[in-house]
Amino acid sequence: CGIVGVLGNHEAAPILVEALKRLEYRGYDSAGIATVNDGALDRRRAVGKLVNLSDRLVHEPLAGKAGIGHTRWATHGAATETNAHPHRAGKVAVVHNGIIENFRELRQFLSDNGIEHVTDTDTETVALLAGYYVDQGMAPREAAQKTIAQLQGAYALCLLFEGEEDLLIAARKGSPLAIGHGQGEMFVGSDAIALAPLTNTITYLDEGDWAIITRSSLEIRDEAGEQVNRDVKTVNIDAARVDKGGYKHFMAKEIAEQPVVMTEVLGHYVKSDGIQFPNQDIDFKSINRLTMVACGTAYYACFVAKYWFEQLAGLPVEIDVASEFRYREPPITSGTAALFVSQSGETADTLAALRYCAGKADKIIAVVNVPESSIARESDVVLPILAGVEVGVASTKAFTNQLMTLAVLALEAAHQRGRLTDAELGDYLENLRSLPGILNTALGIETRCEEISLKLAEARDILFLGRGRMYPLALEGALKLKEISYIHAEAYASGELKHGPIALVDQHVPVIVIAPRDDLFDKTVSNMQEVMARGGRVLLVTDQKGAEEAGDGVWETLIMPEVDAFFAPILYAVPAQMLAYYTAVAKGTDVDQPRNLAKSVTVE
Ligand code: G6P
Repeated sequence: CGIVGVLGNHEAAPILVEALKRLEYRGYDSAGIATVNDGALDRRRAVGKLVNLSDRLVHEPLAGKAGIGHTRWATHGAATETNAHPHRAGKVAVVHNGIIENFRELRQFLSDNGIEHVTDTDTETVALLAGYYVDQGMAPREAAQKTIAQLQGAYALCLLFEGEEDLLIAARKGSPLAIGHGQGEMFVGSDAIALAPLTNTITYLDEGDWAIITRSSLEIRDEAGEQVNRDVKTVNIDAARVDKGGYKHFMAKEIAEQPVVMTEVLGHYVKSDGIQFPNQDIDFKSINRLTMVACGTAYYACFVAKYWFEQLAGLPVEIDVASEFRYREPPITSGTAALFVSQSGETADTLAALRYCAGKADKIIAVVNVPESSIARESDVVLPILAGVEVGVASTKAFTNQLMTLAVLALEAAHQRGRLTDAELGDYLENLRSLPGILNTALGIETRCEEISLKLAEARDILFLGRGRMYPLALEGALKLKEISYIHAEAYASGELKHGPIALVDQHVPVIVIAPRDDLFDKTVSNMQEVMARGGRVLLVTDQKGAEEAGDGVWETLIMPEVDAFFAPILYAVPAQMLAYYTAVAKGTDVDQPRNLAKSVTVE
């Protein structure tokens, strides 16, 4: 969810809505704002995307120069107006990101005091509690302090009070919060991106901090209640409006941008005299194990990289999804480097996994797209992927640039560990350098993808198969497809098919086989034959030679340009993305903001 707060010199409502637009990537189930005007607290909320809130504000405007706003990704309670933020209880309005774990006990406490909840949300209890203390005669800051002290769980909070036009109270625990300094104005945002057009002067709250904000002052207290100073930073975020640049969807634009952003990230890490990690020191000789943790598409980038690190650098790699990793109490032995991949750098589970490793691992490495993000700020080594702002919920250019960055890192590890000579490294880098050009050619499969997708759109279930480095690509292809087209898709390692999933195969289930003509090609083709022998309809994604050798009898073929086998997963991201994209377009779904999802999931 996204949070914003304003103590301004102008009408707050349009500023809040504009800032929320920049936070819509965090959820778009519902949105709302609250303001104080002539002492009176009032709010407007609407289900669905932000435009619904803006529409409502046209008919029912909200005046006032102090306000808070929220865009929601539902956790407790359905996406209804009642459950939308800001939550209000008497003289207090609250916006919240995270989960209040002890909300049931707090509800009991409130109910014992004659106060009943009306929504299904955990956040409402924060408003009720603060409202209760205000009604008891406490001043807003005392009421807030007492409330915050009772909360367990993860939260970023911003509170607004009736009768207080120059006061916001913000608190942070487990969920980031940035305070923006303006000229006689102050702002609050769940990240600096939200505040970018308003100010680039930011103070990040630390864990457990809470802040008392007025237009002319900022007082920060730590968990123990001590007044503390936190740095004021100047952040460099491109405030330019992100637009679709003539494309129908952000996702289409972001797919097309890949050759450019790949070239950019390569230029950042690969110079004429070899690999360089500017200002970062990573000693792979002292490391004997690499643990890679992420969620969603970023996890599949780790999965591909596992093959690279193991095969090239001889480094044992463990990978896990963050939500599993953090709770299984994995031992972190000495010599372990822990690497976290996250486009947003804010994913709650990934951040929690990082914190689990902090102090245990020899080195914490972050591969992120947002260098000011929480994950970046808590890491020893930060490797930006330089993909630029990614708006589409389904990750595309961030995935390819995560792969590019991890490929360079794997080569560096292999070189440092003496597994690649200078000359061999040079050859690999040469192949890597040719990739953006080859990927550019690969974008030419668009028309074919469009044709094939018309047929895929009719399917109820689709299977993806891949082997070796292509297995994670099969997983990514299935994820992309289900995310945006809502068609059920599963991926299997080709060799595993016969151990169960083959029972699903019949003439109604398209089976997409991702198989460049590499050393494992023949094995994958055998598995493909097993599918065809059972009436399965195979879409073979391969190169010209692969199609010549094995294309007989398949339902459809999608021909990719030739590419060095090692880095083929980067190129084969394109068919995974385009098949999903055109299938979604054929089905008429909301490609950039598919139902139930959020771009950045800041709750666990
Ligand atoms: C969400 C998004 C996915 C993304 C995942 C991880 O689920 O919908 O596209 O891959 O989070 O996000 P991150 O920002 O950590 O890469």
